[in-house]
Amino acid sequence: MRKQIAAANWKMNLTLYQAETLVNDLLAAPIEISEHQELVFGVPFPYLIDIQKKTEGRERMLVAAQNCYSKVSGAYTGEVSVEMLKSIGVPYVIIGHSERREYCNETNAQLAEKVNVCFEYGLKPIFCCGEALAIREAGTQNSYVENQLKESLFHLTAESLTGFVIAYEPIWAIGTGKTATSEQAQEMHAHIRAVMAAQYSSELADSISILYGGSVKSTNAKELFGQPDVDGGLVGGSSLVATEFSAIVNSLKK
Ligand code: 13P
Repeated sequence: MRKQIAAANWKMNLTLYQAETLVNDLLAAPIEISEHQELVFGVPFPYLIDIQKKTEGRERMLVAAQNCYSKVSGAYTGEVSVEMLKSIGVPYVIIGHSERREYCNETNAQLAEKVNVCFEYGLKPIFCCGEALAIREAGTQNSYVENQLKESLFHLTAESLTGFVIAYEPIWAIGTGKTATSEQAQEMHAHIRAVMAAQYSSELADSISILYGGSVKSTNAKELFGQPDVDGGLVGGSSLVATEFSAIVNSLKK
């Protein structure tokens, strides 16, 4: 069975004290993370080491950075490299979140460079894709998402994509309370898997965990994660509340 993942994306939220309190509450919560599952905390850069220390010794609890720079090192004031993340033991990096695409003008071509440096340093990208409302309303979401994958990933070999994680996050469902239906999520996840199978192999496509993101809550997680091609979630708002997020983690496929 491919990995089932509940990933928190805290975005630009929480002070250090609030972050520590949240993780303490989660560590005390009745969370079950079985062998083929992972809980990933996507935390702001300044908290990575601290949260990693807090979860040390807890199996299958890992941290993710929310971004990285596309260059390895040098005169790029304010940026954070994958080499730095690697040196503090961070295993995952969220790449291409729609908020970064929109507010920081990240393009598919730049994301291809970021994915490259992640693989060069052995960090696993959680690669985000997903369409805006106008594209969904025009009915062209499948080709739109396919193009995002094509322009940022298809230059890679199947070998380098092993252990890859994709997050499908329809923009119209992010922070809006308007979740994609489980049918809409399944349809897109199956499409993404088919696209990866056509480009690489069904073996590779079957090994990729595809997470759903967009207003995941304790009340809809089980239904969404129960879909055959939905391998967990990338969770924003609900990951900031310990009781909500622990219920979401416990909704992963067993
Ligand atoms: P919400 O769960 O707040 O809708 O955010 C989803 C998201 O963007 C996760 O990366």
